[in-house]
Amino acid sequence: MDLQAILAKNAAVVDSALQQYLPSPDGPGGHVAEAMRYMLRSGKRLRPLVVRHAARTFGWEGERVLPAACAFELLHSATLIHDDLPCIDDSPLRRGQPSCHVRSDEATAVLAGDALIVAAYAALADQTRVSAADRVVRVIAEFSQAVQELIAGEAADVHGEALPPDAELLEFIHLNKTAALFVAAARTGAILAEAAGSQLETITAYARSLGLLFQITDDILDATGDEASLGKPAGADAAAGKQTYPGVYGLAEAQRRADELRAEATRAAIDLPAEQEFWIALLDLLIERRT
Ligand code: IPE
Ligand code: IPE
Ligand code: MG
Ligand code: MG
Ligand code: MG
Repeated sequence: MDLQAILAKNAAVVDSALQQYLPSPDGPGGHVAEAMRYMLRSGKRLRPLVVRHAARTFGWEGERVLPAACAFELLHSATLIHDDLPCIDDSPLRRGQPSCHVRSDEATAVLAGDALIVAAYAALADQTRVSAADRVVRVIAEFSQAVQELIAGEAADVHGEALPPDAELLEFIHLNKTAALFVAAARTGAILAEAAGSQLETITAYARSLGLLFQITDDILDATGDEASLGKPAGADAAAGKQTYPGVYGLAEAQRRADELRAEATRAAIDLPAEQEFWIALLDLLIERRT
């Protein structure tokens, strides 16, 4: 399986669909629309990938869930803009270039983040072109819950900077700020493709482990990676006193836990009705990534 080719194809398909959900950059407020486009210029597009392949796992073409897949990237991009603001992580670099508030200004960045969240809901509503309205409403309800969890995770992340290492708080942060959105992405694709019962639970379990593994790797990369390959500053978590896996448990234990989560997710992937090879390859890619 050529996962790099799948990622490239996913990014191309998602990027072209995203355009329709962005406001016009013309007129007096157009700089906010321009900042939204700037933020969406790159990125791995992992959450839309998860939505599309969750649908495929239950027999739907990824194309049929493209509006919902776009919603996840729009929301994710909003969280990155807000995460980089001086009052949160104060990070000057994102996706290899100046963060949104550095390139524009803070007012533009706050508003571009707000507008991306609203655009995400517009994209979800657009899923009714393909799916029954009651199913889309269920997806919107789960999406909203995940976003509330993400915000609680971000709040706990900032609050945790002033505290001594706290394993319980760290688990809360990882589950909420990161895993919740991956879980919602997988469930969205699956629910739209009419998955139910134990199979929905299996893909939920897979995505939870994947999300936790993803954030542990992000923490490890912050501690060991370099700015050039990350496209964001390295060493920023320790400098800010963040609760991180390497900070609370040490690097070796963080790596061991990531491997354990990969094994858990692999067991779930094997039980899925299709796409097992893809889901297993994705775990390897995320654990071995340098970017
Ligand atoms: C970064 O997410 C934010 C975290 C949850 C750690 P990604 O690593 O998926 O960021 P992009 O979209 O590829 O830039
Ligand atoms: C951010 O976590 C997760 C979000 C919900 C945005 P991080 O603060 O670790 O993400 P990076 O390292 O800035 O990408
Ligand atoms: Mg952060
Ligand atoms: Mg950050
Ligand atoms: Mg990080």
